[in-house]
Amino acid sequence: MRIEWTEDLSTGVPEMDEQHRRLIALLNEFYTAVERGEREEGIRLLFEGVDQYALFHFSAEEAFMEPIGYPDLASHRETHRMFRREYLTAAERYKAGNRKAVRDLVAFLFSWLYTHIQKTDKRYGIFARRPAGQE
Ligand SMILES: [Fe+2]
Repeated sequence: MRIEWTEDLSTGVPEMDEQHRRLIALLNEFYTAVERGEREEGIRLLFEGVDQYALFHFSAEEAFMEPIGYPDLASHRETHRMFRREYLTAAERYKAGNRKAVRDLVAFLFSWLYTHIQKTDKRYGIFARRPAGQE
């Protein structure tokens, strides 16, 4: 399973959409490498690449939500934190020799990201576009 960025994932914030596209591309790369049974070193680098990019992207989103006074910033930030915890746990399981962990992780990443963008990220886009004077 691969996922593609489509218009229905658009937050209406071009910078964030661009980062989501990049994140999805990285996940697809990760997925392909896992499916191909790529060597451990390659998988490890992809693990790190996704982690680094996700961290960068989450901070960028939080930095976007903060100055506009987005009311759900705290819970959104918590969701990002929970995601990272899950991600690192899966990475640990993989390092400890659980090869199935990486497949579980990829499945988790895809469904998490898709739902997160659709249900949570889109809301800051709607908030950012609200007419002036409406909170
Ligand atoms: Fe987010």
